[in-house]
Amino acid sequence: MAQLLLDISKIKPFIGDQAWPEMQTEMNQCHSQLTGHSGKGNDYLGWVDLPVQIEAGLLARIQYDAGKIRQMAEIFVVIGIGGSYLGSRAVIDALNSPFEAMDKIPGSPTIVYAGENLSENYHAQLLELLDKKEYAVAVISKSGTTTEPAIAFRLIRQHIEQKYGKEEARKRIIAITDASRGALKSLADAEGYSSYVIPDDVGGRYSVLTPVGLLPIAVAGFDIRELVDGAVGMRETAMRSSDLEKNPCAQYAAARNLLLRTGKFVEILVAFEPNLLYFIEWWKQLYGESEGKEHKGIFPAGVTFTSDLHSMGQYIQEGMRTLFETVISVGEPTKMLVVPNDPENLDGLNFLSGMRLSEVNRQAELGTMLAHIDGGVPNIRVTIPAINAYYLGQLIYFFEFACALSGYALGINPFDQPGVEAYKKNMFALLGKPGFEKETEILRKRLL
Ligand code: PA5
Repeated sequence: MAQLLLDISKIKPFIGDQAWPEMQTEMNQCHSQLTGHSGKGNDYLGWVDLPVQIEAGLLARIQYDAGKIRQMAEIFVVIGIGGSYLGSRAVIDALNSPFEAMDKIPGSPTIVYAGENLSENYHAQLLELLDKKEYAVAVISKSGTTTEPAIAFRLIRQHIEQKYGKEEARKRIIAITDASRGALKSLADAEGYSSYVIPDDVGGRYSVLTPVGLLPIAVAGFDIRELVDGAVGMRETAMRSSDLEKNPCAQYAAARNLLLRTGKFVEILVAFEPNLLYFIEWWKQLYGESEGKEHKGIFPAGVTFTSDLHSMGQYIQEGMRTLFETVISVGEPTKMLVVPNDPENLDGLNFLSGMRLSEVNRQAELGTMLAHIDGGVPNIRVTIPAINAYYLGQLIYFFEFACALSGYALGINPFDQPGVEAYKKNMFALLGKPGFEKETEILRKRLL
């Protein structure tokens, strides 16, 4: 199978000649910290070997459970937030038709998400939908204590038990959580839900190749073996050498850190395929939560073109020159469509007659790249031959490995997220959670 291709040639004018060879020494160090388990956060490196360690029995069990859910449910609700839903959503949305929910394939449930926000409207509207549909649920939380999914599960558990009765409801709920800790684990044990374990040494945002991502992806009808195989292929390349000429992960990590050092502190991940919108969201979480700490890190942003060329395009072309772009370029579409001929040619588009739409999109991509480079926005390009499970697996592992290297180059721990606690503490205090009395008083005064 082909491999994704990284092209950093278009950043060279922005970083100077000196910097690249120096970066090799840094990447050698970061690579040996990661592969030798001697860097920061090294108790969270389970994801590195995950693709080669995943057991055939586990994949078979996931596929079996997914098959049962596909038979019993029209809707599959994935409850989770952050790393507990973004990976599965990234892959499912990338592989699905954008119109899947409106043009149902019988026996293939629509995947919907809950507990990734606290909106009353959203959850009430979801329950209204679930009144009318046959459904099953996966509740996913590594810690088992995250407020958003816990509230969503409380609502949906009550709904599913009322709709189906307790015994049938139990068959429609799957819990994915820590092996031994957390409220969700206790609840799953007490209620006898079927459950899967998230390994201790795999953090949320690196968990897409565990049951967290694999179960929903299998329920959606996609090939999880192919996804894992793609990751296996990229892992081999990533682990083998830290040589910038041979390791695209090291090359990408080096390129973005060099750009940061020249003042480019915002990276925009760009896709010209709208199905990749949630892949961008997954990437934003991976890089934002991994790198944004100790007042360091590149701010990860995302756009889908050409739609966003008519909104964010203006800023990218002419706004503050603190940006660089990384484009996910897709070799071949899975469908084929050509621009039709029109004998009257009133729109003047006959010069495109017979041309594939993907060719028009390709020229838009290339034209945009050159325009943005001329405007002072360096461009990195990651090309995958096609959007399929195998290449998505490659891309996921590529970004994960590069993120770890890049975090080490920044000098931070890419595997923790201490900053996420600040809003939780304030929210609990403002909600009057027992144990937060002092903070409640202080915060309420501040809001007067
Ligand atoms: O990457 C992470 O660790 C986080 O984004 C978590 O996935 C997110 O906070 C959800 O946590 P949990 O799965 O414990 O509910």
